Amino acid sequence: MSIHNDPANGVSPAAVAPVLAAENLHKNYGPARALGGVSLAVAAGESVAIMGASGSGKTTLLHALAGIIRPDAGAVTFRSIAGPVRVDELSEKERSRLRRESFGFVFQQGLLLPELTALENVALPLMMVGYPRREAEGRAMHWLHLMGLAGFEARRIGELSGGQAQRVAIARAQVTGATVIFADEPTGALDSATGDDVMSALLDSTVGQGNTLVVVTHDETVAARCSRTIRMRDGMLQQAASQAAPQAVPHAAQPYAAPQSSAQWPGAQQPPAQWPAAQQPPAAPVQAAPQNGAQFLGAGWSQQ
Ligand SMILES: Nc1ncnc2c1ncn2[C@@H]1O[C@H](COP(=O)(O)OP(=O)(O)O)[C@@H](O)[C@H]1O
Ligand SMILES: [Mg+2]
Repeated sequence: MSIHNDPANGVSPAAVAPVLAAENLHKNYGPARALGGVSLAVAAGESVAIMGASGSGKTTLLHALAGIIRPDAGAVTFRSIAGPVRVDELSEKERSRLRRESFGFVFQQGLLLPELTALENVALPLMMVGYPRREAEGRAMHWLHLMGLAGFEARRIGELSGGQAQRVAIARAQVTGATVIFADEPTGALDSATGDDVMSALLDSTVGQGNTLVVVTHDETVAARCSRTIRMRDGMLQQAASQAAPQAVPHAAQPYAAPQSSAQWPGAQQPPAQWPAAQQPPAAPVQAAPQNGAQFLGAGWSQQ
């Protein structure tokens, strides 16, 4: 059954279509069951925290949603500007392109290139999609400034603190105009004050701009800052969501209504209707993101 056009919903598909939907995902690694039938819908503009014990399948779920891995069974649908894309059916090359153009990634260790400067690290994804170096570095510079890293452009990654390096990673994840950001334990290697700071940068620059954040975390305070928390256990979603709306859907074909009031979006700065940057086309993503980011310049992140 299509999750995008289910007449049983009684709601217009356009109004309910999630930006990302997983339906009955399964993934085994040999005898180990990493995902045992996970269904999840993520609305544009929400921040979803994925929690659960180590080995419960959080990273596997994130990787399946993001097209890093292919599930053994089940569907992952991404609502791109051009229409729904079945991520699980794409070839390796197509998934790689989707990740490059539409998604951004932040990991526990930033996976930044240590031999490059902060500026070069952020400019690299743009150069990989064809931007001339000068323009790529101009845009990268803008993002570094938005991340509170003016003056640190020429530092190599080893010359930055953990929090600064994570903010470089956040800039790098978004410089190409990604509409969905995936983060796996982004504060896991940081002390709590620095982690808080990095989480502010991550939320403000993603959901604060109308984009979507899916974040795996062990940290309840990180999860509490997201609009919704889902919990995993033994490769399955647990039902009890810790936050009000929207609930994790046990099956993606269920009606899915985006929240109407900004009060339901604690991680966001503005209600979705006012977000201008939402759903920038992947082909021309870079014009808008840095300028819109100027709205969160006032956050005053300390130089951790
Ligand atoms: N590449 C892999 N090869 C073999 N087993 C894996 C691999 N990735 C994950 N697993 C197994 O799948 C299960 C879920 O792992 P993972 O998704 O990394 O959990 P989490 O992120 O919640 O710690 C674990 O049992 C883990 O050992
Ligand atoms: Mg993990």
